[in-house]
Amino acid sequence: MEKSKPYIILSAAISLDGKIATKTGDSKLSSHQDFIRLHKLRSTVDGILVGKNTVMKDDPLLTVRYVKGKNPIRIILDSKGEISSKSKILQTSYEFPTVIAVSKQISKSNLEKLSKFPIEVIITGENSVNIKSLLKKLSKKKITTILVEGGGSTNWEFIKQNLFDELVLTISPYLIGGNDAVSFVQGSVVSKIPESPNLRLKSFKRLKNHLVLNYVKV
Ligand SMILES: NC(=O)c1ccc[n+]([C@@H]2O[C@H](COP(=O)([O-])OP(=O)(O)OC[C@H]3O[C@@H](n4cnc5c(N)ncnc54)[C@H](OP(=O)(O)O)[C@@H]3O)[C@@H](O)[C@H]2O)c1
Repeated sequence: MEKSKPYIILSAAISLDGKIATKTGDSKLSSHQDFIRLHKLRSTVDGILVGKNTVMKDDPLLTVRYVKGKNPIRIILDSKGEISSKSKILQTSYEFPTVIAVSKQISKSNLEKLSKFPIEVIITGENSVNIKSLLKKLSKKKITTILVEGGGSTNWEFIKQNLFDELVLTISPYLIGGNDAVSFVQGSVVSKIPESPNLRLKSFKRLKNHLVLNYVKV
């Protein structure tokens, strides 16, 4: 299988029933040990990418904290540039390199808001962000590996467009349930099992009651 450019790793902590957050948006599924593992992984990639809803719900920093290591570039998919000026991502953009990927739908006022921060705004796509074109632009900036950390709609887009090489999933010992709780893949990928991407289990690791699975696309 030919590798994507950049190389894309999808990463998430999921419940035993495949959810990445409860219906109220609680997504704290990882253990302390798992966070250390995740932050080690973050320190090995060039970029971390998440969707707008994840920024709105979790207000993440997307930096390397549990271990020593370099911080990847933070990349946010946000078609209309609606990220809050008070979000940790924008507030810390003076310290950590940040890309906000928007589409042609962005308003003048939101572009102006973003221009007040030391970030790079990449405009691509008519309605939502055109991921293929975004990846090409990032690749030209020497970003060779990206960790996609969700949420479910973002994962769906990368899987649907066959734009990933590897999956790192932590299976956490929780049952969440409910149609309103966000799933790892928030959308339909295939209608028949043989149409699913072909995945090979490369490694697995037990972290007490959590299980870290590493699959590669074949
Ligand atoms: N357990 C975990 O590991 C984990 C990790 C991350 C997130 N989460 C949880 O996941 C939930 C959020 O997931 P979500 O599915 O609601 O949203 P999401 O994937 O975080 O964000 C989706 C949004 O990104 C924007 N976007 C722009 N271009 C896009 C494109 N080409 N493809 C996809 N999205 C694009 C869209 O908003 P616009 O149209 O406005 O641009 C879209 O609605 C939160 O509750 C969070 O806590 C859990």
